[in-house]
Amino acid sequence: MRVDIITVLPEIMKSPFEGSMMKRAIDKGFVEVHFHNLRDYSTNKQKSVDDYQFGGGAGMVMNIQPIDDCITKLKSERDYDEVIYMTPDGETLNQKMANKMSMLGNLIILCGHYKGVDQRVRDMHITKEISIGDYVLSGGEMGAIILCDALFRLIPGVLSNETSALTDSFQDNLLSPPIYTRPAEYKGMKVPDILLSGNFPEIEKWREQKAYEHTKERRPDLLEE
Ligand code: ADE
Repeated sequence: MRVDIITVLPEIMKSPFEGSMMKRAIDKGFVEVHFHNLRDYSTNKQKSVDDYQFGGGAGMVMNIQPIDDCITKLKSERDYDEVIYMTPDGETLNQKMANKMSMLGNLIILCGHYKGVDQRVRDMHITKEISIGDYVLSGGEMGAIILCDALFRLIPGVLSNETSALTDSFQDNLLSPPIYTRPAEYKGMKVPDILLSGNFPEIEKWREQKAYEHTKERRPDLLEE
């Protein structure tokens, strides 16, 4: 997978990609991430990328010219499966979307700022609009980082134990059951006997039951889907 991220804050975005799972995904050659500073594409003297809203109203709007030039240049170099715009009015990211998108090849992710982008950018270039939740951030950068994390870890080979992504919460519309590690007893709190029993079919049954109970209590909406 290749991801081209268009942002006004490339330097601030880089560090999450320089550690942990995302770094591993990049170092192992499963993904390539390229940052594009939108200001570099602005043709005006001030290198500005935003302007006042036509019709009045608070908040600046990102200009079409630098974004169009950047996306057009990228598209002239290779084909892209999706041109994504991070925005609170997009489709809310969930595990099902992440699973599907983790199989894509080349992606452009445009991070919005201020009030958002000129509508004509969306009409002209954007193929998918994604929100990371029903709240408004000051920019799409955090959303883009979250999207990349959710996708990269699903690419086969990125996680050292591939099955661990398969047993995540949400993979089967259930939250995860409780998990434990050593010691088997801590300050009088014991790990459930079943997990120490070695009876793997029974352990599996227990985990399924706990996952169901946990989901019913916290996210009954998932059971209705
Ligand atoms: N930009 C601002 N708020 C956002 C959100 N909730 N999701 C994605 N991008 C955003």
